[in-house]
Amino acid sequence: MQNTQNYIQKNKDKFLNELIDLLKIPSISADKAYITDVQNAAESVAQNLKNSGVENVQIFPTKGHAIVYGEKIIDANLPTVLVYGHYDVQPADPIELWTNPAFEPIIKVTEIHPEGAIFARGSCDDKGQMFMHVKAVEAMIQNNELPCNVKFMIEGEEEVGSVNLGTFISESKELLKADIILVSDTGMLSNDTPSITTGLRGLSYVEVEVTGPNRDLHSGLYGGCVANPINALTKMIASLHDENNHITVPGFYDKVQELSDNERNEMAKAPFSHENYCKALNITNVSGETGYSTPERGSIRPTLDVNGIWGGYTGEGAKTVIASKAYAKISMRLVPHQMPDEITELFQKHFESLAPDGIKVVVTPHHGGEPVVTPIDSLAYQAASFAYETTFGKKPIPVRSGGSIPIIALFEQILGLKTIMMGFGLDSDAIHSPNEHFGLFNFYKGIETIPYFYSEFTKLTKK
Ligand code: BES
Ligand code: MN
Ligand code: MN
Repeated sequence: MQNTQNYIQKNKDKFLNELIDLLKIPSISADKAYITDVQNAAESVAQNLKNSGVENVQIFPTKGHAIVYGEKIIDANLPTVLVYGHYDVQPADPIELWTNPAFEPIIKVTEIHPEGAIFARGSCDDKGQMFMHVKAVEAMIQNNELPCNVKFMIEGEEEVGSVNLGTFISESKELLKADIILVSDTGMLSNDTPSITTGLRGLSYVEVEVTGPNRDLHSGLYGGCVANPINALTKMIASLHDENNHITVPGFYDKVQELSDNERNEMAKAPFSHENYCKALNITNVSGETGYSTPERGSIRPTLDVNGIWGGYTGEGAKTVIASKAYAKISMRLVPHQMPDEITELFQKHFESLAPDGIKVVVTPHHGGEPVVTPIDSLAYQAASFAYETTFGKKPIPVRSGGSIPIIALFEQILGLKTIMMGFGLDSDAIHSPNEHFGLFNFYKGIETIPYFYSEFTKLTKK
């Protein structure tokens, strides 16, 4: 891999400039106004793959946004790595909180990133991380050091639940034949504590609508006489956690597995500073389920959180009104073996039962996804661990993450393939938030580390 590594060192500026061009495209999958930009991003990724030496590059249209495919087949007898990533991004709002516009990438130094970080929506999630794979493969192809076959599948709908990707993979089993799926769409503990993501939480997402009287009412004439939907909704929501921050939906924890003390002790070895955590978020204390540490609350325990709530008068000044309706969006993060459809149903039943007299409740499910845990005794994990150890000089720690990538569970169910998650982002990179960024150290380290995964995985699995 020496020529590959030399090529990477020589082409750092080129790689960065190419990423900057991709980051300038506002490929916001959730907003129809950006449909052309999303398509442009797909074409840009396809062009980049071609320029890198990847072959058979195709853009597959779907009912939603397109999927970019490409491959470099060296020899059918060699193992095949299937790289998954996404080129779509979250909306940039609230845009006024960006110190520099979200789609005008800029390099700035931060406390955590003294080498500089690239600020732009999608820099870390996931254009920057996906692009590391394109550049790592380019370096190997251009130096005749690609040790096995590689396939790319880069989608444009991850941030809206990957609704069409399941159908695509079901219909493309032959095309997607591989030995392992490789993903960089998660994070690591810190720049001097590399880690490999070994789990993701699942997701159940619902919207609730609470209706009282058939129209907005004068709060003086009717106040005190009819159920107020906003009062009712907030009370219902408040009752979803008990005094220990346990979720009160009956049956919610039935399938949750308690980890053994041994597993919890292993997890607790990952460095965590309560003080730095609070400082970074400007909070006076953490909050969560009694009996669990902050890292546990954020990874191995399920949650229920209101993500948005609205209703009534929210404009300037005061308007004395009792709203007819109130709404909330609620996410539940799930752990093995909670199934999103079952949890959604339990929630729905329970929430409807909470409605006080005079209030109607409608619960509408949105997209969901199953949790995943990946083994740490596999050859792929061993190869990834070797790769990090080579470039960081330290063995990576296995860490279960709190985020969700719903398609990963489907990879196993539909394609029968395990996934290895080599994330290089940091929690402090502000993904989904204003001022998202990705460290240059992380971007380049990712490109340097990935080739060692290929060489080691090939060595370990070659028939
Ligand atoms: N890349 C993230 C998920 C992630 C980030 C996992 C960091 C682990 C560490 C992904 O793009 C994402 O945002 N997923 C959504 C779910 C999706 C259905 C919108 C999420 O977790 O909220
Ligand atoms: Mn992502
Ligand atoms: Mn995301």
